[in-house]
Amino acid sequence: MTTEDWQRRPGAPRHGTQLCPLNEIREPGARGFLFGEGKERFDMFVVRRGADVFAYVKECPHAFTPLETWPDKFLTLAEDEIVCSTHGALFNMDDGLCTSGPCTGKALIPIPVTVENGMITIIQ
Ligand code: FES
Repeated sequence: MTTEDWQRRPGAPRHGTQLCPLNEIREPGARGFLFGEGKERFDMFVVRRGADVFAYVKECPHAFTPLETWPDKFLTLAEDEIVCSTHGALFNMDDGLCTSGPCTGKALIPIPVTVENGMITIIQ
C-alpha cells in the first residue's frame, strides 16, 4: 500500500481544512476538491458511503493521472467502487486498495477526514 506523505505535496490543505457539508455529496457519491494552482495545485476527492467519508489524492497509482473524466464521477455505475477512467482500475471505497486492473495491489493515497458538525474536515 502506498504510504506517501501527501502533506508534503505543494498546495496540500492543512489540518482542520473544511471541505464541504456532508449533505452536499450524494449517498453514495463523490466530489473532487482543488487547492492552489500551477505548481502549487493539489487535487483530491472525497467518497461518501452512508455516514462514512473517505478521501484520497486524485492520482491513480498506475499512470499517475487523475481518476475521473467528468467532474465528480469517481464511482462505478453500481456506485460501490472507485473507478479510474483511464484504464478501468477498480478501488475499494473505504481503503483505496486497487482490486482489479493494471495496478492491482497498489492503493490510492489516503487523506484522513472526518465529519465535524456536519462538515467534512481534514484531520491530519
Ligand atoms: S491510469 Fe488508472 S488504471 Fe491506468
